[in-house]
Amino acid sequence: MSVRRLADESVQPASFAFNREMAAQAQTWIKKYPKGREQSAVIPLLMLAQEQEGWVTRAAIEHVSEMLDMPRIRVLEVATFYTQFQLKPVGTRAHVQVCGTTPCMLRGSEALMDVCRSKIHHDQFHTNADGTLSWEEVECLGACVNAPMIMIFKDTYEDLTPERLAEIIDAFEAGKGDTIKPGPQVDRVYSAPETGLTSLTDEKVFLKSARPKAAKANGEEKKTV
Ligand code: FES
Repeated sequence: MSVRRLADESVQPASFAFNREMAAQAQTWIKKYPKGREQSAVIPLLMLAQEQEGWVTRAAIEHVSEMLDMPRIRVLEVATFYTQFQLKPVGTRAHVQVCGTTPCMLRGSEALMDVCRSKIHHDQFHTNADGTLSWEEVECLGACVNAPMIMIFKDTYEDLTPERLAEIIDAFEAGKGDTIKPGPQVDRVYSAPETGLTSLTDEKVFLKSARPKAAKANGEEKKTV
């Protein structure tokens, strides 16, 4: 695991405060824990800070430590340990997380990363010239059956080809990311087989109303599920 440090002071904002919506969510999280154990909310509070700013700033870490009455070093330890926390500025319109773990790798994630390299920046964790886009390779995001896939913000985009990823990146760059439907980018429902159902194709097996009525007319009361 590489050493994770806070971003250079030259890019750190002077201060941080949760906006009204995030502050309310932060209080909801804090109240979930027993009195005296409020520090357990450190991860959700850092996630909220990241959701608001796009990345976790030094000022946000200090703010969270004050909110939770927690030593700054403890909050810093959490923020630098979990790779889910971005410690440097990311693209303001999209930070593309490309899964590079084995199932996605076997299904073409390297070609997806090539798209990111050509459309965003050659190196991960760098923004494009306008600062609107960035990308990184991540470990399994739990949608292996729909490999290869990416995540942007909290949404996943699955069953990708390089061409489809290029379209998705273009949409986010144009500020039209909400026009792209998350989930499978092919004609399948969630993780159902691409070629249609392969099991439970006979409704009679699981649907009482689909069974022939003849058996009942004959007085053969059969056990049904
Ligand atoms: S290996 Fe890519 S989502 Fe699991």
